[in-house]
Amino acid sequence: MTTILITGGAGFIGSNFTRYILQKYPDYKAVVYDKLTYAGNLDNLKDVAQAYPDRYAFIHGDICDAEKVEETIKAYGVELLVNFAAESHVDRSLFEPGSFIQTDIFGTYVLLEAARKLGVSRMVQVSTDEVYGSIEKGSFKESDPLNPSSPYSASKAGGDLMCLAYYKTWGVPVMITRGSNTFGPYQYPEKVIPLFITNAIDNQPLPLYGDGMNVRDWLYVLDHCEAIDLVLHEGKPGEIYNVGAGNELTNLELTRLILKILRKPESLIRFVEDRPGHDRRYSLDCTKIKALGWQPRHKFEEALEETVRWYVENQWWWRKIKSGQYMEFYRKQYEKRLATGKPFNS
Ligand code: NAD
Ligand code: TYD
Repeated sequence: MTTILITGGAGFIGSNFTRYILQKYPDYKAVVYDKLTYAGNLDNLKDVAQAYPDRYAFIHGDICDAEKVEETIKAYGVELLVNFAAESHVDRSLFEPGSFIQTDIFGTYVLLEAARKLGVSRMVQVSTDEVYGSIEKGSFKESDPLNPSSPYSASKAGGDLMCLAYYKTWGVPVMITRGSNTFGPYQYPEKVIPLFITNAIDNQPLPLYGDGMNVRDWLYVLDHCEAIDLVLHEGKPGEIYNVGAGNELTNLELTRLILKILRKPESLIRFVEDRPGHDRRYSLDCTKIKALGWQPRHKFEEALEETVRWYVENQWWWRKIKSGQYMEFYRKQYEKRLATGKPFNS
């Protein structure tokens, strides 16, 4: 048995990755280590716990807690480590940057230090295209300089640099993936796709920031998981791999597609006050990971339809989330914006 430690495995991409790994490798044991912040949710792993009682374990812990991290690695004989744990929402990073610096930089350092001391065989740091900042034309290569705009992306960039430092200084076998905007089942409904799908189901307004012309490159979560798996097993230590599917859409195009799939009216769209520091466009050159053998296998529109269907059919999952603490954030972020928002006239 090979043991893989999946930090942040109770979140969106981490839970999809855990399910994917256990399905693909019958001789792997997965240990999810997660703090269960507002975004961590054991409902995301309910089916996994049932399907793999002998090959799945959950540890409730913080990646900033060095003692507990080391104890877990030793107790389970961890050989592989994939770090998904992060504060991950740009808008929240504008309200409270401190927790982003703590988890995304300091927490990454704690994991690297444990990997160095205890000799973990291979580690992947799951990072983001946002570390490069915005690009008007063309696409970023892995060798391009970092130019993050938000406290979120600056913290992720700090985590990336710490990984490279641990590789260069001590040879810690760590690879970095920089994925683009990801979507699919179990994504917390603060991110634009699940927020807009669930709001539209309830005939609530969809708050589009600014002019709706910002561009994101959308990646289906299972394609993202396959890329991380490939880099974990075949990537070269110390290297960075961009992961994007080339599905570039303006936010307005994306919103209209979601409404079309749900057969909801475009009158639900509201143009609202922009996000400060809002990056205009993200775009990645993915030649390097394609040369390693990856390519996206899901067509964007089909994957989006599949995702919409999942939220329609799994209201038990998101209705529990969209109450209490979530509504507090929603009011803080959107109440004033929606009150002064403008409707869409096509
Ligand atoms: P998420 O917010 O859904 O999940 C993050 C998980 O990390 C949660 O389960 C949370 O409880 C856990 N966590 C947070 N702080 C922790 C700590 N201190 N110790 C242990 N666990 C902690 O995020 P996601 O969308 O699944 O993103 C996962 C990773 O992928 C992040 O590192 C993010 O930067 C990166 N990424 C995300 C996207 C995207 O579009 N969602 C794209 C590219 C890269
Ligand atoms: P988001 O899902 O927050 O991801 P990121 O900021 O990491 O790219 O946002 C995706 C895009 O959607 C981004 O350009 C901001 C925009 N957006 C809105 O227009 N309205 C919203 O309510 C949210 C959450 C995002």
